[in-house]
Amino acid sequence: MLHLLHVDSSPRSERSQSRRLTQEFVEQWKRNNPNTQITYRDIGRNPIPHIDEHWIAAAFTPPEHHTPQLRAAIQLSDQLVDEFLAADIYVMGIPMYNFSVPSGFKAYIDQIVRVGRTFDFAPEDADSPYKPLVLGKKMVVITARGASGYGIGERYESMNYQDPYLRTVFGFLGITDISFITVENDETGGQRLAESIAQARSQVAELVASGSRT
Ligand SMILES: Cc1cc2nc3c(=O)[nH]c(=O)nc-3n(C[C@H](O)[C@H](O)[C@H](O)COP(=O)(O)O)c2cc1C
Repeated sequence: MLHLLHVDSSPRSERSQSRRLTQEFVEQWKRNNPNTQITYRDIGRNPIPHIDEHWIAAAFTPPEHHTPQLRAAIQLSDQLVDEFLAADIYVMGIPMYNFSVPSGFKAYIDQIVRVGRTFDFAPEDADSPYKPLVLGKKMVVITARGASGYGIGERYESMNYQDPYLRTVFGFLGITDISFITVENDETGGQRLAESIAQARSQVAELVASGSRT
């Protein structure tokens, strides 16, 4: 059975473009692949805490040496990592906030990038001292933006710290099969928003259809 992890990170509810599109993706996916097990995590409405001093100490201390305090500090991260590793396909809804991801999504990333669990050190390999541990997965990232022009060759390309960052951090873990779908012009509204939504919806349908074939 395939396992799909659906994560939404917009703090908005009905108004959220990314949330609407991830939902559409997951509903279509379920119709085409009824045997998929779906796990949903809503970090937009139920924020993940930032890591703290005890978390850092726990992440770099072997579990057999954890004090009760360190164990408690790393417990949620362990749960999020277990959930992340159990999935075969990820569907992530991520708004652009100040040219990057919302701080809530960054908090989630800090919780799941874990030495010995999602990546490892390989000091003996001078060319590549890090080893990705999350292999063979697919990811669909649905982003939403107020403006447009952040694509390759476009006027705000150099201000886009969202897609390149997501490619880097998930690629670091071993997830390189990432499809991006974007709703632009949420703040512009009108025809330009409507066209962008229509395009994103057709990309969702295409991606579900192509994923279902594999
Ligand atoms: C705090 C904040 C920062 C934002 N920063 C940007 C930005 O840097 N670039 C942009 O194009 N839109 C920006 N926006 C607009 C959002 O990306 C846009 O409204 C998007 O649709 C939000 O995602 P959602 O619809 O899923 O909630 C920002 C919105 C907020 C609330």
